[in-house]
Formats: sequence, structure tokens, C-alpha cells
Amino acid sequence: MARLDVIEVFHGISFPGHLHTQESLQLAQKFPFKDTDILIASYPKSGTTWMQQIVTLISSKGNPNLSQTVPNWTRAPWLEQYYFSVLLEASSITSRVITTHLPHHLLGPALQGSKAKVIYVSRNPKDVVVSFYHFHKMANFLPEAGTFSEFFNRFLEGTLSYGSWFDHVKDWTSHTATMNNLLHITYEEMSLDLYGTIKRVSSFLQSNLVEDEVNNCVKHCSFSSMKNNKMVNYTLIDEEIIDHSKGSFMRKGKIGDWKNMFTEEQNQYFKSVFKSKMQDCTLEFVWEE
Ligand code: A3P
Repeated sequence: MARLDVIEVFHGISFPGHLHTQESLQLAQKFPFKDTDILIASYPKSGTTWMQQIVTLISSKGNPNLSQTVPNWTRAPWLEQYYFSVLLEASSITSRVITTHLPHHLLGPALQGSKAKVIYVSRNPKDVVVSFYHFHKMANFLPEAGTFSEFFNRFLEGTLSYGSWFDHVKDWTSHTATMNNLLHITYEEMSLDLYGTIKRVSSFLQSNLVEDEVNNCVKHCSFSSMKNNKMVNYTLIDEEIIDHSKGSFMRKGKIGDWKNMFTEEQNQYFKSVFKSKMQDCTLEFVWEE
């Protein structure tokens, strides 16, 4: 059987070859966005699936039907995946919802001049590295995770799939001031105030909801609801690709799980790397609940 965890290197960044080809990555870079498109952009494990669910529910005015019958990768397909065009054609809605993990420098030119609405989702990087590590252990299309310590170093070096977290976040968020069609939402905001986040996202999408509709969105976006929803918990994916005996995609859903993984030494090292790589960035992260 062909290995699932082949790597596709594109512009110096590693991508899982099971999902992306040179051709699909090139096509993504030239994608003709429509002004009505909604793009969810994120580094992996930052709350992408959560935002896909939020956007679906806002578009459905809190009605859960679509979010419970169509998988998230079909209703908000990943732009850079090789089967993107098939999925996009299958969704015949006016406002297309598209997802991407591409860094801004690869996608910026395609977005230039477009009024597509972009929602960038970030999460504190200590929790991202822990979530990504656990995901590597169950996702057979990603390279071997190795020990946490090895994985942690690869994260800080920026050599994991999808490249450097630091570059990803700095590049995308540096455009929030100049692009008025870009909204930056953090995982921590969603976690601490889901109701308020849904109101913010719905007003950005110019889809103002009444209170009952917001409450319905909250209900169907909660961790427990999503954990039990096959359309977002990835249990529909073949065991050979995502091995659910090794963990669950909807794993903990908490702020601050890094404390259960990091040693004191790793925490100090992380802080020093973070300080030097983010020195020109004013973003503030919430590290614990
Ligand atoms: P953990 O592994 O820390 O639990 P992505 O969709 O970008 O891959 O992110 C996956 C992470 O988001 C996982 O984090 C997952 O549990 C968390 N997540 C997804 N839906 C969530 C929700 N409704 N509430 C809280 N966390 C959620």
C-alpha cells in the first residue's frame, strides 16, 4: 500500500501529499475569489472546524440541519486540497464558504482586489502545538509525531506541515488594519464568549441574527454538541486515514492544556522563542482559562 504520509514541498513549506499536490497548491494561489465568498483562514488546530460550524449556523440562522447532514469539508472545503473543485461545484450556494491553511504570502495575491470576507482564526501557540501533536498521532496522512520534545522543537523551528505558526499568524494579522474585509477571531474568544463571538461574526457577515437564532448557534457550536456530530468530528473519515482508536479530533477543547504537556524548561524556552519571533507583533494571547 502506498504511504499516506508523503510530503509535498511547495515554496519551501511542507504539506501533506495525501491532500495536496503541486497542481492543487498552484491552483489555490490563482483562485478567482468572488466578492460574495467567505474565507476561513487559520494555522491547523486553531479552531478551524469550530469556525466552519459557526459560519454554517450563522448562514442558516441557527437552524442545525445543514451542520448535521453535510460534513464540514463539503460545506466549507479547503481551497488547497486536490478535490476542492469537485466539492465547490457540489455546493451551489451564493455565498461560498471556503477554508484555507495557506500562509498569507501564498494567498495574498489571489485575494488582492477582492471583497471576499476573510475570517482569520488564531489560537495561543502553546495549545496549538499540543493539539497538533495529538492530532499527528491519529492522522496517518501526517508524518510521525515522534516524542513531544521532538515535535515541540519542530514547531518552534517552523518545519511542521503548513510551515511556521509565527509567520502564519504575523502575516495574516498584519493585514487586519489595512483590509476592512478581514476579521481576526481567536480560539480563546470563542471559548470565553461564544455568544459574543457569534454576534461579532454575524455582524461582520452582515447577517444579523435575533437572540433566539444566536442562542441556537451557540447550542450547536458547543464542544459537546460538536463532539457528537459526525459531520464535524471526523469519524466519517476512513480509520486508515484518521485512526480514532488513537484519540479523538474533538479532543479536549480547552484553553491551557499545554500545562499538562510542557515541562518548566520547555515553557521557558518557548517563552524566549516567542518573545524573539513576535517582538514586532502587538497581538496578545490568552494562555490559560
Ligand atoms: P484540542 O485538540 O485542544 O481539543 P482545528 O479545527 O483547527 O483542527 O482545531 C481543532 C481543535 O479545536 C481541537 O482542540 C478541538 O477539540 C477544538 N475544537 C473544535 N470545536 C470546538 C468547540 N466547539 N469548542 C472547543 N474546542 C473546539
